[in-house]
Amino acid sequence: MKIDTKLTKVSRDVKKQKGFINPGIYKGSTMIFNSFEDYINDINNDDDRSTLYGINKNPSVEQLEKAISSLYKCHDTIIAPSGLAALIIPFLTYLKKDDEVLINDTVYSPTRTFCEKILKNYRVKIKYFHPLKDINKFEKLITNKTKLIYLESPGTATFEILDIPKITKIAKKKKIPTVMDNTWASPIFCNPIKLGINIIIDAGTKYINGHSDVLIGFVSTDKKHSKEIRITAKTLGMCPGSEEVYLALRGIPTLNLRMKQIETNTLNMANKLLEHSLIDKVYYPAIPSFPNHNIWKRDFTGSSGLFAFSLKKKHSLKSIKKFYNKLKIFKLGYSWGGFDSLITFPRLSKRSFKNEVKGNLIRVYCGLEDSQDQINDILNALKVLK
Ligand SMILES: Cc1ncc(COP(=O)(O)O)c(C=O)c1O
Repeated sequence: MKIDTKLTKVSRDVKKQKGFINPGIYKGSTMIFNSFEDYINDINNDDDRSTLYGINKNPSVEQLEKAISSLYKCHDTIIAPSGLAALIIPFLTYLKKDDEVLINDTVYSPTRTFCEKILKNYRVKIKYFHPLKDINKFEKLITNKTKLIYLESPGTATFEILDIPKITKIAKKKKIPTVMDNTWASPIFCNPIKLGINIIIDAGTKYINGHSDVLIGFVSTDKKHSKEIRITAKTLGMCPGSEEVYLALRGIPTLNLRMKQIETNTLNMANKLLEHSLIDKVYYPAIPSFPNHNIWKRDFTGSSGLFAFSLKKKHSLKSIKKFYNKLKIFKLGYSWGGFDSLITFPRLSKRSFKNEVKGNLIRVYCGLEDSQDQINDILNALKVLK
């Protein structure tokens, strides 16, 4: 079955939904047992807590878990109330006092904040590695205390592509679980399980939902790690809102269409900006001259809507403000993955490795407006920097 057909099937079960096209919304905590025997069986079936309860059993949550597992061809998926809530689950599952975790230095900034502000209090050592320079000596970074490898590819803001198969091969040899934040690619453009990853993070807030009206996160696992991850998530009381689940399911049938259009729009924009006289670099893995472009081509089947460009010189904040204020289509706002084009002004100051960006760095998300309108908007605003 081709992906467009699959996407229309995995998000629903029309028979169970009494003929309705989309799944229902189930709200609630208490669920009533059919009999005393069922109640006793339920207790005996689980380690320490009932499964027949709103946190554990909700028909549309189960439908969404199954849909995401099917798209990632993995064993299980648990759903958290945001991407950030999802990504902390593997840290809390595999790390304890005196352990070490390896993380690429280009990781999503709140992931780093979680490690620095919370994980460190539990005496876990956080070791950041350079996404390009440290790969050939990766094995040397591992000690007998390394208990988790957490990866994000491409990296946040500067989009470095990691050699995931190289890392997972070493991790498997050393029996260390690997996690990859795959939000940028979504299941449409990358399947980290195929690259040897054990646990996938996907902030469904972005592409899966696709309409900027939901916060939701997924942790998708291979068989070996699924039970431990599920226990952590459920012990923490992680469960999504039921309307959010409904909206995420409703986003799935159009996921491929949206991703393809977003890819086209972004490639058009990135290629146009490459030729611009004020621009130094375009940070987008699909550009042939971008570092590790060949690895991206090997491991990904497409490129999504988020990228950055840097200016040749460092313009004053006053000039940069004029540029942002001139934009009509690109709006200043966090997150991405919806139909609206967005723009931000990222700071890289928290990184451990020296920032190699020359001029100002501008992050762009190309949404679903007309491609030429998007290009004209940025080109027009760049004129104020001349
Ligand atoms: C790479 C990446 N992972 C995770 C998240 C967190 O997702 P959420 O906004 O749902 O918490 C984000 C949000 O911007 C992100 O960019």
